[in-house]
Amino acid sequence: MLVNKKNLSDLDPSNKGHASTYSDRYFSEPIPKYEMPDRGMPANATYQLVHDELNMDGNQSLNLASFCTTWMEPEANKLIAENINKNFIDHDEYPQTEVIHQRCVNMLARLFNSPKDKKSIGTATIGSSEAIMLGLLAHKWSWINRRKKLKKKYDKPNIVFGADVHICWDKFARYFDVEPRIIPMEVGRYTIGQKEIARRIDENTICVGAILGTTFTGQYDSIKEMNDYLVKIKKDKGWDIPIHIDGASGGFIAPFVYPDVEWDFRLEQVKSINVSGHKYGLVYPGIGWLVFRDESDMPKDIIFNVNYLGGEMPTYTLNFSRGSAMVIAQYYNFLRLGKEGYARIANSVIENAQYLSKKLVDSGLFDTLNPTQMLPVVAVKLKNKEKFTLYDLSDKLRQRGWIIPAYSLPPNADKIVIMRMVVKENFSRDMADILFDDIIQACEKLGGKKIDKEIKKFATRGRVC
Ligand SMILES: Cc1ncc(COP(=O)(O)O)c(C=O)c1O
Repeated sequence: MLVNKKNLSDLDPSNKGHASTYSDRYFSEPIPKYEMPDRGMPANATYQLVHDELNMDGNQSLNLASFCTTWMEPEANKLIAENINKNFIDHDEYPQTEVIHQRCVNMLARLFNSPKDKKSIGTATIGSSEAIMLGLLAHKWSWINRRKKLKKKYDKPNIVFGADVHICWDKFARYFDVEPRIIPMEVGRYTIGQKEIARRIDENTICVGAILGTTFTGQYDSIKEMNDYLVKIKKDKGWDIPIHIDGASGGFIAPFVYPDVEWDFRLEQVKSINVSGHKYGLVYPGIGWLVFRDESDMPKDIIFNVNYLGGEMPTYTLNFSRGSAMVIAQYYNFLRLGKEGYARIANSVIENAQYLSKKLVDSGLFDTLNPTQMLPVVAVKLKNKEKFTLYDLSDKLRQRGWIIPAYSLPPNADKIVIMRMVVKENFSRDMADILFDDIIQACEKLGGKKIDKEIKKFATRGRVC
Protein backbone atom coordinates (compact mmCIF):
# COMPACT_ATOMS: atom_id res chain seq x y z
CA MET A 1 0.00 0.00 0.00
CA LEU A 2 1.35 3.42 -0.92
CA VAL A 3 1.83 5.77 1.99
CA ASN A 4 -0.18 8.92 1.54
CA LYS A 5 2.41 11.65 1.17
CA LYS A 6 1.42 14.89 2.84
CA ASN A 7 3.51 17.96 3.47
CA LEU A 8 6.74 17.32 5.29
CA SER A 9 5.56 19.45 8.14
CA ASP A 10 2.50 17.22 8.63
CA LEU A 11 4.64 14.25 9.55
CA ASP A 12 4.83 13.38 13.18
CA PRO A 13 8.46 12.36 13.80
CA SER A 14 7.41 10.32 16.84
CA ASN A 15 5.43 7.93 14.61
CA LYS A 16 8.40 7.26 12.42
CA GLY A 17 10.72 5.57 14.90
CA HIS A 18 10.26 2.20 13.19
CA ALA A 19 11.06 3.43 9.69
CA SER A 20 14.42 2.72 8.08
CA THR A 21 16.39 5.80 7.19
CA TYR A 22 15.71 6.01 3.45
CA SER A 23 12.07 4.87 3.67
CA ASP A 24 11.04 8.24 4.99
CA ARG A 25 9.34 10.74 2.72
CA TYR A 26 12.10 13.22 3.52
CA PHE A 27 13.99 11.60 0.68
CA SER A 28 11.31 11.95 -1.99
CA GLU A 29 10.11 15.46 -1.30
CA PRO A 30 11.83 18.82 -1.51
CA ILE A 31 13.68 19.95 1.57
CA PRO A 32 13.07 23.48 2.82
CA LYS A 33 16.18 25.38 1.81
CA TYR A 34 15.70 29.03 2.52
CA GLU A 35 13.18 29.12 5.33
CA MET A 36 13.45 27.18 8.53
CA PRO A 37 10.89 24.35 8.44
CA ASP A 38 7.95 24.61 10.84
CA ARG A 39 8.69 21.19 12.23
CA GLY A 40 11.78 19.10 12.46
CA MET A 41 12.57 15.60 11.20
CA PRO A 42 14.02 12.46 12.78
CA ALA A 43 17.71 12.52 13.61
CA ASN A 44 18.64 9.59 11.33
CA ALA A 45 16.93 11.18 8.31
CA THR A 46 18.45 14.59 9.04
CA TYR A 47 21.90 13.12 9.38
CA GLN A 48 21.61 11.15 6.15
CA LEU A 49 20.24 14.09 4.19
CA VAL A 50 23.01 16.45 5.24
CA HIS A 51 25.65 13.76 4.94
CA ASP A 52 24.56 12.86 1.41
CA GLU A 53 24.40 16.47 0.30
CA LEU A 54 27.95 17.02 1.54
CA ASN A 55 29.15 14.24 -0.76
CA MET A 56 28.98 16.97 -3.39
CA ASP A 57 31.99 18.61 -1.74
CA GLY A 58 35.43 17.70 -2.99
CA ASN A 59 37.40 14.82 -1.52
CA GLN A 60 39.59 16.29 1.23
CA SER A 61 42.47 13.91 0.49
CA LEU A 62 42.63 15.06 -3.13
CA ASN A 63 42.48 18.72 -2.18
CA LEU A 64 45.92 19.99 -3.05
CA ALA A 65 44.67 23.57 -3.19
CA SER A 66 44.53 24.01 0.55
CA PHE A 67 47.37 24.14 3.04
CA CYS A 68 45.00 22.95 5.75
CA THR A 69 45.29 19.60 7.45
CA THR A 70 42.84 16.95 6.28
CA TRP A 71 44.00 13.97 8.33
CA MET A 72 44.75 13.35 11.99
CA GLU A 73 45.29 10.20 14.02
CA PRO A 74 42.27 8.44 15.56
CA GLU A 75 43.46 9.31 19.07
CA ALA A 76 43.58 12.99 18.13
CA ASN A 77 40.09 12.70 16.65
CA LYS A 78 38.93 11.20 19.94
CA LEU A 79 40.37 14.07 21.98
CA ILE A 80 38.77 16.53 19.58
CA ALA A 81 35.36 14.87 19.96
CA GLU A 82 35.72 14.85 23.75
CA ASN A 83 36.47 18.57 23.87
CA ILE A 84 34.31 19.90 21.07
CA ASN A 85 31.81 21.42 23.52
CA LYS A 86 34.27 23.50 25.54
CA ASN A 87 34.40 27.22 24.91
CA PHE A 88 38.06 28.13 24.94
CA ILE A 89 37.47 31.59 26.38
CA ASP A 90 35.99 30.16 29.59
CA HIS A 91 39.36 29.99 31.30
CA ASP A 92 37.80 30.00 34.75
CA GLU A 93 35.57 27.03 33.92
CA TYR A 94 38.20 25.11 31.98
CA PRO A 95 41.43 26.10 33.68
CA GLN A 96 43.41 23.08 32.51
CA THR A 97 42.71 23.92 28.88
CA GLU A 98 44.25 27.33 29.52
CA VAL A 99 47.30 25.68 31.09
CA ILE A 100 47.68 23.54 27.97
CA HIS A 101 47.26 26.63 25.79
CA GLN A 102 50.10 28.37 27.64
CA ARG A 103 52.29 25.30 27.30
CA CYS A 104 51.77 25.38 23.52
CA VAL A 105 52.71 29.08 23.40
CA ASN A 106 55.86 28.32 25.40
CA MET A 107 56.85 25.45 23.14
CA LEU A 108 56.40 27.60 20.05
CA ALA A 109 58.34 30.55 21.48
CA ARG A 110 61.27 28.24 22.20
CA LEU A 111 60.96 26.56 18.79
CA PHE A 112 61.25 30.04 17.29
CA ASN A 113 64.38 30.77 19.36
CA SER A 114 62.95 33.41 21.66
CA PRO A 115 65.76 35.17 23.56
CA LYS A 116 66.45 33.70 27.00
CA ASP A 117 66.53 37.12 28.67
CA LYS A 118 63.05 38.07 27.37
CA LYS A 119 59.57 36.99 28.35
CA SER A 120 57.77 35.87 25.20
CA ILE A 121 54.01 35.89 25.17
CA GLY A 122 51.44 34.68 22.67
CA THR A 123 48.02 33.30 22.03
CA ALA A 124 46.05 30.83 20.01
CA THR A 125 43.89 32.33 17.28
CA ILE A 126 41.42 30.99 14.75
CA GLY A 127 44.11 30.96 12.10
CA SER A 128 47.01 32.94 10.73
CA SER A 129 44.74 35.73 9.46
CA GLU A 130 43.58 36.60 12.97
CA ALA A 131 47.13 36.19 14.29
CA ILE A 132 48.53 38.54 11.63
CA MET A 133 45.89 41.22 12.21
CA LEU A 134 46.44 41.06 15.94
CA GLY A 135 50.23 41.18 15.60
CA LEU A 136 50.08 44.14 13.24
CA LEU A 137 47.61 45.94 15.50
CA ALA A 138 50.11 45.56 18.33
CA HIS A 139 52.80 47.13 16.14
CA LYS A 140 50.45 49.96 15.20
CA TRP A 141 49.86 50.75 18.87
CA SER A 142 53.54 50.48 19.76
CA TRP A 143 54.30 52.94 16.96
CA ILE A 144 51.56 55.33 18.19
CA ASN A 145 53.01 55.18 21.70
CA ARG A 146 56.54 55.86 20.42
CA ARG A 147 55.29 58.82 18.39
CA LYS A 148 53.34 60.20 21.35
CA LYS A 149 56.46 60.04 23.51
CA LEU A 150 58.36 61.99 20.87
CA LYS A 151 55.44 64.46 20.65
CA LYS A 152 55.18 63.68 16.93
CA LYS A 153 52.12 63.18 14.75
CA TYR A 154 50.67 59.70 14.62
CA ASP A 155 47.92 60.07 12.01
CA LYS A 156 49.67 58.57 9.00
CA PRO A 157 50.86 55.05 9.80
CA ASN A 158 52.06 52.89 6.93
CA ILE A 159 53.01 49.27 6.54
CA VAL A 160 55.43 47.80 3.98
CA PHE A 161 54.97 44.35 2.49
CA GLY A 162 55.22 42.55 -0.85
CA ALA A 163 52.41 41.71 -3.23
CA ASP A 164 53.34 38.12 -2.41
CA VAL A 165 51.39 38.32 0.86
CA HIS A 166 48.15 36.57 1.68
CA ILE A 167 45.02 38.70 1.37
CA CYS A 168 44.78 39.05 5.17
CA TRP A 169 47.60 41.62 5.05
CA ASP A 170 45.56 43.83 2.70
CA LYS A 171 42.57 43.29 4.95
CA PHE A 172 44.55 44.51 7.94
CA ALA A 173 45.55 47.70 6.14
CA ARG A 174 41.97 48.46 5.12
CA TYR A 175 40.17 47.37 8.29
CA PHE A 176 42.61 49.14 10.61
CA ASP A 177 43.31 52.22 8.54
CA VAL A 178 47.00 51.85 7.79
CA GLU A 179 48.46 52.89 4.42
CA PRO A 180 49.68 49.76 2.65
CA ARG A 181 52.93 50.22 0.71
CA ILE A 182 52.78 47.14 -1.43
CA ILE A 183 55.90 46.09 -3.30
CA PRO A 184 54.95 44.77 -6.76
CA MET A 185 56.38 41.52 -8.05
CA GLU A 186 58.34 41.22 -11.29
CA VAL A 187 58.61 38.40 -13.77
CA GLY A 188 61.32 36.25 -12.19
CA ARG A 189 61.08 37.88 -8.70
CA TYR A 190 58.20 36.65 -6.56
CA THR A 191 59.52 37.65 -3.13
CA ILE A 192 60.98 40.76 -1.51
CA GLY A 193 64.28 41.74 0.09
CA GLN A 194 66.26 44.73 1.35
CA LYS A 195 66.34 46.56 -1.97
CA GLU A 196 62.57 46.48 -2.26
CA ILE A 197 61.79 47.73 1.25
CA ALA A 198 64.54 50.39 1.30
CA ARG A 199 62.61 52.80 -0.91
CA ARG A 200 59.37 52.46 1.00
CA ILE A 201 60.06 52.65 4.73
CA ASP A 202 60.08 55.87 6.74
CA GLU A 203 59.50 57.08 10.30
CA ASN A 204 55.78 56.29 9.97
CA THR A 205 56.31 52.62 9.10
CA ILE A 206 54.69 50.57 11.83
CA CYS A 207 56.10 47.28 10.55
CA VAL A 208 57.65 45.42 7.63
CA GLY A 209 55.99 42.16 6.67
CA ALA A 210 58.06 39.14 5.66
CA ILE A 211 56.68 35.83 4.45
CA LEU A 212 58.18 32.47 5.31
CA GLY A 213 56.68 30.66 2.35
CA THR A 214 54.41 32.69 0.11
CA THR A 215 50.92 31.51 -0.71
CA PHE A 216 51.70 31.89 -4.41
CA THR A 217 54.95 30.01 -5.00
CA GLY A 218 56.06 28.80 -1.56
CA GLN A 219 59.31 30.81 -1.63
CA TYR A 220 60.68 32.71 1.39
CA ASP A 221 61.21 36.48 1.45
CA SER A 222 64.84 37.49 2.13
CA ILE A 223 64.27 37.87 5.84
CA LYS A 224 67.81 38.04 7.21
CA GLU A 225 68.79 40.63 4.63
CA MET A 226 65.79 42.80 5.55
CA ASN A 227 66.53 42.41 9.26
CA ASP A 228 70.17 43.48 8.85
CA TYR A 229 69.08 46.48 6.86
CA LEU A 230 66.52 47.54 9.48
CA VAL A 231 69.10 47.13 12.26
CA LYS A 232 71.35 49.51 10.32
CA ILE A 233 68.47 51.96 9.78
CA LYS A 234 67.77 51.88 13.53
CA LYS A 235 71.38 52.90 14.21
CA ASP A 236 71.58 55.48 11.43
CA LYS A 237 68.15 57.12 11.65
CA GLY A 238 66.65 56.01 14.92
CA TRP A 239 63.66 54.32 13.23
CA ASP A 240 62.95 51.16 15.17
CA ILE A 241 60.90 49.26 12.59
CA PRO A 242 59.80 45.78 13.64
CA ILE A 243 59.39 42.81 11.33
CA HIS A 244 56.36 40.57 11.59
CA ILE A 245 57.04 37.12 10.17
CA ASP A 246 54.16 35.43 8.45
CA GLY A 247 55.19 31.84 9.07
CA ALA A 248 51.70 30.52 8.29
CA SER A 249 53.18 27.51 6.51
CA GLY A 250 56.94 27.79 6.92
CA GLY A 251 56.81 28.18 10.69
CA PHE A 252 56.38 24.43 11.08
CA ILE A 253 58.75 23.50 8.22
CA ALA A 254 61.86 25.69 8.55
CA PRO A 255 62.70 24.78 12.19
CA PHE A 256 62.76 21.10 11.26
CA VAL A 257 64.09 20.97 7.71
CA TYR A 258 66.23 24.10 7.54
CA PRO A 259 67.25 24.80 11.16
CA ASP A 260 70.25 26.91 10.08
CA VAL A 261 68.17 29.38 8.10
CA GLU A 262 67.78 32.45 10.33
CA TRP A 263 64.30 33.89 10.07
CA ASP A 264 62.93 33.93 13.63
CA PHE A 265 63.67 35.60 16.99
CA ARG A 266 67.39 35.03 16.37
CA LEU A 267 67.03 38.19 14.28
CA GLU A 268 66.90 41.43 16.26
CA GLN A 269 64.03 43.18 14.47
CA VAL A 270 61.73 40.15 14.36
CA LYS A 271 59.23 41.03 17.06
CA SER A 272 56.30 38.79 16.25
CA ILE A 273 55.59 35.58 14.38
CA ASN A 274 52.39 33.88 13.31
CA VAL A 275 52.05 30.24 12.35
CA SER A 276 49.05 28.15 11.33
CA GLY A 277 48.53 25.16 13.57
CA HIS A 278 46.11 23.93 10.94
CA LYS A 279 48.73 23.89 8.18
CA TYR A 280 52.02 22.10 8.90
CA GLY A 281 51.18 22.17 12.62
CA LEU A 282 49.13 19.17 11.42
CA VAL A 283 45.86 20.08 13.17
CA TYR A 284 42.45 20.55 11.52
CA PRO A 285 41.16 24.12 10.99
CA GLY A 286 40.91 26.50 12.81
CA ILE A 287 43.97 27.05 14.87
CA GLY A 288 46.67 29.66 14.46
CA TRP A 289 49.28 31.06 16.80
CA LEU A 290 50.78 34.45 17.46
CA VAL A 291 54.00 34.78 19.45
CA PHE A 292 55.71 38.01 20.51
CA ARG A 293 59.43 38.13 21.13
CA ASP A 294 58.84 39.95 24.42
CA GLU A 295 55.80 41.00 26.43
CA SER A 296 56.76 44.66 25.85
CA ASP A 297 56.04 44.11 22.13
CA MET A 298 52.35 43.63 22.99
CA PRO A 299 51.21 47.10 24.16
CA LYS A 300 48.78 47.25 27.06
CA ASP A 301 46.37 49.29 24.90
CA ILE A 302 45.08 46.19 23.16
CA ILE A 303 44.70 44.00 26.24
CA PHE A 304 41.25 44.02 27.84
CA ASN A 305 40.29 42.60 31.21
CA VAL A 306 36.90 40.96 31.67
CA ASN A 307 35.34 39.58 34.83
CA TYR A 308 32.08 38.14 33.56
CA LEU A 309 33.27 34.59 33.22
CA GLY A 310 34.37 34.21 36.83
CA GLY A 311 37.82 35.51 37.75
CA GLU A 312 39.58 38.52 36.28
CA MET A 313 40.78 37.58 32.80
CA PRO A 314 42.93 39.39 30.22
CA THR A 315 41.90 38.97 26.59
CA TYR A 316 43.55 40.25 23.44
CA THR A 317 42.20 38.14 20.61
CA LEU A 318 39.89 39.55 17.93
CA ASN A 319 37.45 36.73 18.55
CA PHE A 320 35.99 35.98 21.96
CA SER A 321 34.31 32.55 21.97
CA ARG A 322 35.95 29.70 20.10
CA GLY A 323 36.34 25.95 20.43
CA SER A 324 39.03 24.40 22.64
CA ALA A 325 39.36 21.21 20.67
CA MET A 326 42.00 22.37 18.20
CA VAL A 327 44.17 23.89 20.92
CA ILE A 328 44.10 20.51 22.64
CA ALA A 329 44.75 18.74 19.34
CA GLN A 330 47.82 20.92 18.84
CA TYR A 331 49.11 19.91 22.25
CA TYR A 332 48.43 16.28 21.33
CA ASN A 333 50.65 16.64 18.25
CA PHE A 334 53.42 18.36 20.19
CA LEU A 335 53.55 15.51 22.70
CA ARG A 336 52.88 12.74 20.23
CA LEU A 337 55.36 13.79 17.55
CA GLY A 338 57.97 15.79 19.39
CA LYS A 339 60.64 17.58 17.37
CA GLU A 340 61.78 14.28 15.90
CA GLY A 341 58.29 13.42 14.62
CA TYR A 342 57.68 16.87 13.15
CA ALA A 343 61.08 16.71 11.45
CA ARG A 344 60.28 13.30 9.98
CA ILE A 345 56.98 14.47 8.54
CA ALA A 346 58.33 17.83 7.35
CA ASN A 347 61.23 16.13 5.56
CA SER A 348 58.92 13.59 4.01
CA VAL A 349 56.51 16.19 2.59
CA ILE A 350 59.44 18.20 1.21
CA GLU A 351 60.85 15.05 -0.42
CA ASN A 352 57.50 14.16 -1.96
CA ALA A 353 57.13 17.71 -3.27
CA GLN A 354 60.62 17.57 -4.78
CA TYR A 355 59.81 14.22 -6.33
CA LEU A 356 56.61 15.45 -7.98
CA SER A 357 58.18 18.72 -9.04
CA LYS A 358 61.13 16.93 -10.68
CA LYS A 359 58.84 14.56 -12.57
CA LEU A 360 56.79 17.46 -13.90
CA VAL A 361 59.88 19.38 -14.99
CA ASP A 362 61.45 16.24 -16.51
CA SER A 363 58.31 15.69 -18.57
CA GLY A 364 59.33 18.74 -20.56
CA LEU A 365 55.90 20.29 -20.13
CA PHE A 366 56.48 22.46 -17.08
CA ASP A 367 58.92 24.87 -15.44
CA THR A 368 59.09 25.14 -11.68
CA LEU A 369 58.70 28.43 -9.81
CA ASN A 370 59.81 26.97 -6.50
CA PRO A 371 63.22 25.44 -7.21
CA THR A 372 64.53 25.82 -3.64
CA GLN A 373 61.64 23.82 -2.21
CA MET A 374 61.72 25.58 1.16
CA LEU A 375 58.02 24.73 1.43
CA PRO A 376 56.42 21.49 0.23
CA VAL A 377 54.64 23.36 -2.52
CA VAL A 378 54.88 22.37 -6.17
CA ALA A 379 54.39 25.51 -8.25
CA VAL A 380 54.71 25.13 -12.01
CA LYS A 381 53.94 26.98 -15.21
CA LEU A 382 53.70 25.69 -18.74
CA LYS A 383 57.13 25.58 -20.38
CA ASN A 384 55.84 26.32 -23.86
CA LYS A 385 52.71 27.70 -25.39
CA GLU A 386 50.24 24.80 -25.60
CA LYS A 387 46.78 24.35 -27.08
CA PHE A 388 45.41 24.47 -23.54
CA THR A 389 45.88 26.69 -20.50
CA LEU A 390 46.57 25.71 -16.91
CA TYR A 391 42.97 26.69 -16.17
CA ASP A 392 41.87 23.97 -18.64
CA LEU A 393 44.24 21.50 -17.03
CA SER A 394 42.99 22.30 -13.54
CA ASP A 395 39.44 21.78 -14.79
CA LYS A 396 40.31 18.49 -16.46
CA LEU A 397 42.01 17.15 -13.33
CA ARG A 398 38.85 17.89 -11.39
CA GLN A 399 37.19 15.07 -13.35
CA ARG A 400 39.50 12.67 -11.53
CA GLY A 401 38.73 14.38 -8.22
CA TRP A 402 41.99 16.38 -7.91
CA ILE A 403 41.52 19.88 -6.58
CA ILE A 404 44.49 21.84 -7.92
CA PRO A 405 44.14 25.56 -8.53
CA ALA A 406 45.50 27.55 -11.44
CA TYR A 407 45.89 31.27 -10.89
CA SER A 408 47.79 34.33 -12.02
CA LEU A 409 50.64 35.75 -9.94
CA PRO A 410 50.25 39.13 -8.21
CA PRO A 411 50.96 42.43 -10.02
CA ASN A 412 53.29 43.06 -11.87
CA ALA A 413 53.84 39.40 -12.65
CA ASP A 414 50.16 38.78 -13.33
CA LYS A 415 50.71 37.66 -16.90
CA ILE A 416 52.13 34.45 -15.50
CA VAL A 417 49.63 31.72 -14.75
CA ILE A 418 50.72 28.91 -12.49
CA MET A 419 49.35 25.74 -10.99
CA ARG A 420 50.08 24.98 -7.34
CA MET A 421 50.01 21.68 -5.48
CA VAL A 422 50.35 21.74 -1.70
CA VAL A 423 51.91 18.48 -0.55
CA LYS A 424 50.57 17.38 2.80
CA GLU A 425 51.27 14.55 5.21
CA ASN A 426 48.68 12.26 3.66
CA PHE A 427 49.90 12.77 0.08
CA SER A 428 52.12 9.73 -0.35
CA ARG A 429 54.71 8.92 -3.01
CA ASP A 430 52.11 6.58 -4.45
CA MET A 431 49.62 9.45 -4.75
CA ALA A 432 52.33 11.59 -6.36
CA ASP A 433 52.77 8.92 -9.05
CA ILE A 434 49.02 8.74 -9.66
CA LEU A 435 48.75 12.50 -9.89
CA PHE A 436 51.68 12.75 -12.29
CA ASP A 437 50.08 10.11 -14.48
CA ASP A 438 46.76 11.96 -14.42
CA ILE A 439 48.43 15.26 -15.29
CA ILE A 440 50.22 13.73 -18.28
CA GLN A 441 47.06 12.06 -19.53
CA ALA A 442 45.02 15.24 -19.05
CA CYS A 443 47.60 17.24 -21.03
CA GLU A 444 47.42 14.73 -23.87
CA LYS A 445 43.62 14.76 -23.88
CA LEU A 446 43.66 18.54 -23.99
CA GLY A 447 45.69 18.38 -27.17
CA GLY A 448 49.08 18.99 -25.66
CA LYS A 449 52.22 17.74 -27.27
CA LYS A 450 52.59 13.98 -27.34
CA ILE A 451 54.48 12.89 -24.28
CA ASP A 452 57.68 11.04 -24.84
CA LYS A 453 57.41 7.29 -24.35
CA GLU A 454 60.29 7.43 -21.88
CA ILE A 455 58.33 9.84 -19.68
CA LYS A 456 55.20 7.76 -19.94
CA LYS A 457 57.12 4.80 -18.64
CA PHE A 458 57.34 6.55 -15.28
CA ALA A 459 53.62 6.95 -15.10
CA THR A 460 52.04 4.40 -12.78
CA ARG A 461 49.34 3.14 -15.07
CA GLY A 462 51.64 3.08 -18.08
CA ARG A 463 54.14 0.78 -16.42
CA VAL A 464 54.66 -2.62 -18.02
CA CYS A 465 55.31 -5.48 -15.67
C1 LIG B 1 51.43 32.99 3.90
C2 LIG B 1 50.03 32.93 4.44
N1 LIG B 1 49.64 33.83 5.35
C3 LIG B 1 48.40 33.80 5.89
C4 LIG B 1 47.47 32.87 5.51
C5 LIG B 1 46.12 32.86 6.13
O1 LIG B 1 46.08 31.81 7.03
P1 LIG B 1 44.75 31.26 7.70
O2 LIG B 1 44.01 30.55 6.62
O3 LIG B 1 45.29 30.36 8.76
O4 LIG B 1 44.00 32.42 8.24
C6 LIG B 1 47.84 31.91 4.54
C7 LIG B 1 46.88 30.90 4.08
O5 LIG B 1 47.12 30.11 3.20
C8 LIG B 1 49.15 31.93 4.00
O6 LIG B 1 49.56 31.05 3.07
